[in-house]
Amino acid sequence: MTASNTELDIQNLTVSFTANGREVTAVNGISYKLNSGETLAVVGESGSGKTVSALSLLRLIPQPPGRIVSGKVLFRGRDLLALGDDALRAVRGNDIGMVFQEPMTSLNPVLTIGEQIVETLYAHRNIATPEAREVAIALLRQVEIPSPQSRWKCYPHELSGGQRQRAMIAMALACDPGILIADEPTTALDVLVQAQILEFLQRVQQERNMSVLLITHDLGLVANSAQRALIMYAGEIVETGPVRDLFSKPRHPYTMGLIESIPRPGTKARRKRFHEMKGSVPALGSLPSGCPFHPRCPSAQQKCETEKPTLEAIEPDRQVACWYPND
Ligand SMILES: Nc1ncnc2c1ncn2[C@@H]1O[C@H](COP(=O)(O)OP(=O)(O)O)[C@@H](O)[C@H]1O
Ligand SMILES: [Mg+2]
Repeated sequence: MTASNTELDIQNLTVSFTANGREVTAVNGISYKLNSGETLAVVGESGSGKTVSALSLLRLIPQPPGRIVSGKVLFRGRDLLALGDDALRAVRGNDIGMVFQEPMTSLNPVLTIGEQIVETLYAHRNIATPEAREVAIALLRQVEIPSPQSRWKCYPHELSGGQRQRAMIAMALACDPGILIADEPTTALDVLVQAQILEFLQRVQQERNMSVLLITHDLGLVANSAQRALIMYAGEIVETGPVRDLFSKPRHPYTMGLIESIPRPGTKARRKRFHEMKGSVPALGSLPSGCPFHPRCPSAQQKCETEKPTLEAIEPDRQVACWYPND
């Protein structure tokens, strides 16, 4: 793959938090590339460092208690982590749009949806009021909010959860960013609406040839909505690859566990998971020795308790951090 195909090049990103005088590492030396026109999923259980790593790309973590310890985030040859505040503000929204999990906390409750989109346009573009209004309505139409002429006068609480999420996406798309970071964009929604929004995101991604970083705890969502995925565990990447290959041949036992815990059709009614993974992501302050996954791993051996595996390429476009990967 040529260098010009890379939209974002994240190198060795490490982020820590200080609590009670103690600094713990939330994201530990992750490196990956987001390629032009692809949807790359970042997958892992809650607490694995997905949000912190995504917010850090645009220096949006609260500092302190957060701290970007090291790393580079290269965008068009510039390191976003070293950019001045004004230059970085221009990149946010303009070049890189963001959609978050909770639209109620990210939308302003006292402004109508239309007003908020117009404000975003004013903030980033030299645009006159009548035109901004037209652009906003066109955006609401594009995100498939019904009767946008009247909906644009609605306050966030007057919309359904799915429509609020679509409004958030409209706002993120307002300045036609080349990159969209979507952090659990459908988690609060029911399964049907989730599927509609992800389908919609895929369509927009193709129409605009955007690059999308799709963050989710639900590997099941990824199958139809991303081309490649990174699997994160305890602040590190443990496996990467094309989504197709991750599903057909997971190499890391954690990825296998995630696949097995995807609810199957038919079992949903009883709210039963096919195979719940035992244990949970370890607390940052007390990571186990060796491989951080070893206490939960069905194939752990003695070496895993003492020596930490690093992420290694095992095939072109495929990496795994495991001493005994599945084959
Ligand atoms: N503001 C904060 N202060 C202290 N610790 C934080 C803060 N934000 C996140 N963390 C810690 O960073 C770790 C990763 O969190 P996060 O990136 O939100 O996980 P995920 O998005 O994968 O669920 C968690 O252990 C969390 O406690
Ligand atoms: Mg998160």
